[in-house]
Amino acid sequence: MKIAVIAAAAAAVAVLAGISLSPGVTGATSPKKEAKAEKSATPLSSVILKQRQARGAYLARAGNCIGCHTLQGGRAYAGGRKLATPFGTFVTSNITPDKATGIGDWNEDDFWKALHEGKSRDGRLLYPAFPYTEYTKITREDSDAIFAHLRALEPVVQQNPPSQVASRYDFQPLLTLWRAAYFKPGVYQADPTKSTEWNRGAYLVQGLGHCSACHAERNPLGGMIGRKGDDKLGGGQIMGSNWYAPSLTSSLEASTAGWSIEEIVQLLTTGISPRATTSGPMAEVVSQSLQHLTKEDARAMAAYLKSLPETQSRQQVNPPAQTEQVQAWLRYGARIYKEHCQDCHGDSGQGAPGIYPPLAGNRSVTLTPPTNVIRSILNGGYPPSTAGNPRPYGMPPFAQVLRDGEIALVLSYIRNAWGNRASLVTTAQVDKSREGITER
Ligand code: HEC
Ligand code: HEC
Ligand code: HEC
Repeated sequence: MKIAVIAAAAAAVAVLAGISLSPGVTGATSPKKEAKAEKSATPLSSVILKQRQARGAYLARAGNCIGCHTLQGGRAYAGGRKLATPFGTFVTSNITPDKATGIGDWNEDDFWKALHEGKSRDGRLLYPAFPYTEYTKITREDSDAIFAHLRALEPVVQQNPPSQVASRYDFQPLLTLWRAAYFKPGVYQADPTKSTEWNRGAYLVQGLGHCSACHAERNPLGGMIGRKGDDKLGGGQIMGSNWYAPSLTSSLEASTAGWSIEEIVQLLTTGISPRATTSGPMAEVVSQSLQHLTKEDARAMAAYLKSLPETQSRQQVNPPAQTEQVQAWLRYGARIYKEHCQDCHGDSGQGAPGIYPPLAGNRSVTLTPPTNVIRSILNGGYPPSTAGNPRPYGMPPFAQVLRDGEIALVLSYIRNAWGNRASLVTTAQVDKSREGITER
């Protein structure tokens, strides 16, 4: 009787989860039959497996595995995406369960070794372009769930080209040294003085969410420069790209300490908020990963981010002296603004709520490395399309419309109008960004 109840409950769970059980296993089964089936795949254990797979699918999204392990227009998780860095071009692996070209032969322990220790099944040390320096914080239970999800995918036969690593870096001994200096395996340890919500947020930000993979400054060997303990979100240039990921701990950059939890949740899950708009790689993180977080997890992440203590920005704020020459430049910039930008961003940089971001008081505009704003003007772009903002308004590219000098002037203007204060942008800086215009 008891078992029949469990079986019925299991069937109900399966129905709720949208899972169709194979014929013959629904309804009440006799205790004897149930016990016998237990040894092979019983309905109950298959329900547990399905639940674990569903949890794994959710966690894989929170970790954005698909983002790196999928080629644009390619099969999900089949790898082949190239990540350009100063050390060479790393190619992501096929992590579908194909035996020959994917991880079909792996077991849970092999998978755990990759995520937790950064070692492949054959013992090869993996390149830290795979952010195992963060994923090491993932629990064994979550690792097993992600593995269960990947195992349930359709195997894709896809042999990816090998990584192209600059020869002087292409040897395992160097990686051994690198790991000794920059990598300490270890699951996230909860801070007992903090709330469950805070700890959940810390787990997601430091581990699965691997925010520091982009938001940390790197030294020339790609090691993270954390000045003290956990200060790994102090902002940094993303290796091999023209994007700067701002500090999440400096109020001059992208700290959210002064925001409400609701505003942070809104930015993380919809990509836009009254104070900030995500673009480029961050827009991808939002659309592929963060927008899928449950309300509780998004709030937990927000609570943790909001609690991060202020650190001094590494960037120097260096506004120009208001000489006559500078004022003449800024007046010229203002004219360009009026002609090309004002229709959307407003005559005092106020933007239009939910449609066009404000430029006045917008920290993305005044960031010291002007990398991102130059990028926005040259390439244009869209905030991510999310359930909360399904049809985002875009910004047209100006690469063909304005010359480098004009872009430098209009940017210098918006960085110094309406109360904004920041360094001038030079023509050379714009020119340098154009070189990277075709890569994302
Ligand atoms: C920032 C990009 C990036 C993200 C995000 C990422 N990976 Fe990877 N992953 C890589 C790269 C690059 C490699 C190849 C490393 C190498 O060959 O040394 C790799 C390798 C792996 C391997 C080893 C495969 C093998 O054959 O040895 C596994 C397993 C793996 N990733 C799983 C995951 C999972 C699970 C997630 C999400 C939780 C994930 N990856 C997220 C970039 C990424
Ligand atoms: C692939 C690299 C990458 C990852 C991973 C990443 N970010 Fe970002 N993030 C960026 C870049 C680049 C920017 C600057 C562009 C922008 O403002 O949207 C940014 C901007 C931000 C901003 C400021 C938004 C604004 O416009 O002021 C916040 C807040 C933020 N990220 C939080 C996070 C959190 C939390 C995580 C982890 C869950 C994360 N990021 C992971 C690259 C990344
Ligand atoms: C058709 C409307 C439109 C016009 C014209 C326009 N923009 Fe934008 N702008 C947008 C939208 C929409 C975004 C958000 C894009 C994104 O998130 O990638 C944006 C983003 C930006 C950003 C980044 C803000 C942030 O928070 O990350 C800057 C800086 C900017 N615009 C400056 C300008 C300048 C300077 C001009 C004139 C040369 C201009 N825009 C013209 C609509 C416009």
